[in-house]
Amino acid sequence: MTDFLPPSPLRHFLELTDLSRSELLEVLALGRRLKSGEGGGGRPLGGRTMALIFRKHSTRTRVSFEVALHQLGAHSIFLSDRDTQIGRGESMADTARVLSGYVDGIMIRTFEHEEVEELAAYAGIPVINSLTDRVHPCQLLADLMVLQEEFGEELRGLRVAWVGDGNNVANSWLNASALLGFELRLAVPEGCEPDPGILARARAAAPVTLTRDPVEAVAGAHAVNTDVWASMGQEAEVERRHALFRPFQVTSALMEEADPSAVFLHCLPVHRGEEVTPEVIDGPRSRVFSQSENRLHGQKALLLHLMT
Ligand code: CP
Ligand code: NVA
Repeated sequence: MTDFLPPSPLRHFLELTDLSRSELLEVLALGRRLKSGEGGGGRPLGGRTMALIFRKHSTRTRVSFEVALHQLGAHSIFLSDRDTQIGRGESMADTARVLSGYVDGIMIRTFEHEEVEELAAYAGIPVINSLTDRVHPCQLLADLMVLQEEFGEELRGLRVAWVGDGNNVANSWLNASALLGFELRLAVPEGCEPDPGILARARAAAPVTLTRDPVEAVAGAHAVNTDVWASMGQEAEVERRHALFRPFQVTSALMEEADPSAVFLHCLPVHRGEEVTPEVIDGPRSRVFSQSENRLHGQKALLLHLMT
């Protein structure tokens, strides 16, 4: 008899589709159990350390990851461009190999998705993408938990609307639709479409439609989502984008087109009076602070899934 256990395969989370449908549902179920106070005790990640690389600003992601790791018994190290050699141009390949000698996992938020792929290719430890210009998969764990809290575990029968920029969060909603099969209708201005590859993959797997008309996207929807008109890194385009996106503002009148049970979602931070009016984001249909709270529970579930 041997006490040798085969090493568990190294798992990264660079996009939502790095999980299978059943793995995603397991992570979401664990997140909901952890939120309700069931399980998660006993320092399951005791003695572990995770490096958190932030090349962009963050409030929710940084705090929820640090608290998640603390609650699971692990230690976290915040690394920014300002005080690491990454900020002076050290490659992701070298950073990955160095950090793999010290820590048990890496979370990274950056601009180019290729940096995260390079980091993952060279790391001997799990890598979690906490936002690139391409996707924001950790956000979707929280958002899908909100939908389950509102409408039940099976999301396949839902209709979700995305109004605004076909950005990193929109791409992640497409990945979620591909995995879980709910209907996704996106209303985006010309030139602001989501990633064509992600769109094509989602269209092959789920009822996904793209329109220029917010009313068409929102009609009968159970959830109406939007995000800022200029994401981090697009600061120079703010003026041009504001003119382009004005007809895509989520207003009370637009929300009236949705299903009577519809909720409003936004990953935050928000620009009130731009992509959404204050009455909607601060109104009774808004679930934006459930989304932010769920970041903690969803990421604890993800960390347990990848690291235990
Ligand atoms: N939603 C989100 O990722 O927020 P932060 O940029 O504050 O982390
Ligand atoms: N689309 C936004 C999301 C911020 C959490 C951005 O990338 O800036």
